Amino acid sequence: MNVLIVGSGGREHALTWKIKQSPLVKKVFIAPGNGGTAALGENIALSDDDLPGILKLTRDKNIDMVVVGPELPLVLGLADALEREKIPCFGPGAYAAQLEGSKAFSKFLMAEAEVPTADFKVFQEYAQADAYLKNGQFPLVIKADGLAAGKGVIVASNLDEAREALHDMMVKQVFGKAGEVVVIEECLQGEEASFLAFCDGHDYVLLPSSQDHKRAGDNDTGPNTGGMGAYSPAPVLPEHMYQETADLVIKPIIHHLEEMDRPFKGILYAGLMFTAQGPKVLEYNVRFGDPECQPLLMRMESDIVELMMACASGRLGGQRISIRPEASVCVVLAAEGYPRKYRKGSPITGIEDAEQDELVKVFHAGTRLEKGLTVTNGGRVLGVTALGADLAEAVKRCYEAADRINYSDKYLRRDIGQKGLGRRP
Ligand code: AMP
Ligand code: GLY
Repeated sequence: MNVLIVGSGGREHALTWKIKQSPLVKKVFIAPGNGGTAALGENIALSDDDLPGILKLTRDKNIDMVVVGPELPLVLGLADALEREKIPCFGPGAYAAQLEGSKAFSKFLMAEAEVPTADFKVFQEYAQADAYLKNGQFPLVIKADGLAAGKGVIVASNLDEAREALHDMMVKQVFGKAGEVVVIEECLQGEEASFLAFCDGHDYVLLPSSQDHKRAGDNDTGPNTGGMGAYSPAPVLPEHMYQETADLVIKPIIHHLEEMDRPFKGILYAGLMFTAQGPKVLEYNVRFGDPECQPLLMRMESDIVELMMACASGRLGGQRISIRPEASVCVVLAAEGYPRKYRKGSPITGIEDAEQDELVKVFHAGTRLEKGLTVTNGGRVLGVTALGADLAEAVKRCYEAADRINYSDKYLRRDIGQKGLGRRP
């Protein structure tokens, strides 16, 4: 098989690495890819939202399956376009992708499918939303409806903050069209975890739990980022709770969309808050998380291509997924200044040294090759990922490897996995 992977981050390097291991696969293409994927397949300089370009590529390269990493091409309808061309696609169609592309759609669907989530209201008129805030109980969460590169959620601790966030979204339009509609919702308290499932429109197969670290600084301080590290399993969601949690947050959504004749095929990602009343859904994503993908794929023993083809063709029923018993951790090496301003183009050393340990894999995120050298090319540069007999061992191995890698402006969090370690019996 020839497989095309769409995207350019650490998640896509991990997907390419795992897909390449399948005996079913002859060649992988990555659009646009990064310095890490270039070593495994052929990078094609196409933007992930260039749907006509991607469709042409699938014909030119005889692609047998397309795996979509990020949400934007799914929201734009890449899976639907590929279905019309009869090319299997791992990722949902545009209708189901609204679970991530529109927070209002997602909340209404959760309400219809009786999925536990924060109480909410949706507003299209600024004056009405502003009036609602004036009677609100704080903290409250204000969310831009559309895709806003992870910046469209504001947890407002008082009326002034909330009004400013609302004004930015609906009047100043800092997120453009994404802020024309807003969701205002109850602020949930608790610990977060990510729970992902392979779905074929009817059946699903669960991946183990994981936990992301969204803030830039240690102890969850500083601005929100795409994710500074992740580990699996997350003790806040232990294995004995997987099925009852899936019955609450995965199954009802899959079945609801199936009843609407809009089957969800691909990865359904539930971002959960474990509240005193049990798990509640903060958000759905319609793809692997980045960086959650990296530790999850390190633990996965099954052939991912078989699972993806089964999802795309609706034959997941009865499939099993084999997971290594070890824990895994991914620490993101970023460029100082991320998620704000940062420099690019610094040469990176030590990656091979870090990978001397066979239980360590360094996934590239923002890198490119320049005259044979790997240089920094983004805010999140690398994802150092390690396995260990338990979380403590994985964390230790991961930081030892991370410390072997150098470039100017290197920045990392030093507390990835600490919440999980704190929960150990
Ligand atoms: P989202 O894009 O909806 O996942 O939101 C990003 C982050 O905002 C989440 O990972 C949470 O940390 C936080 N968040 C979102 N919604 C809520 C909520 N209702 N209560 C508390 N925190 C929230
Ligand atoms: N790590 C969170 C996300 O991928 O949305």
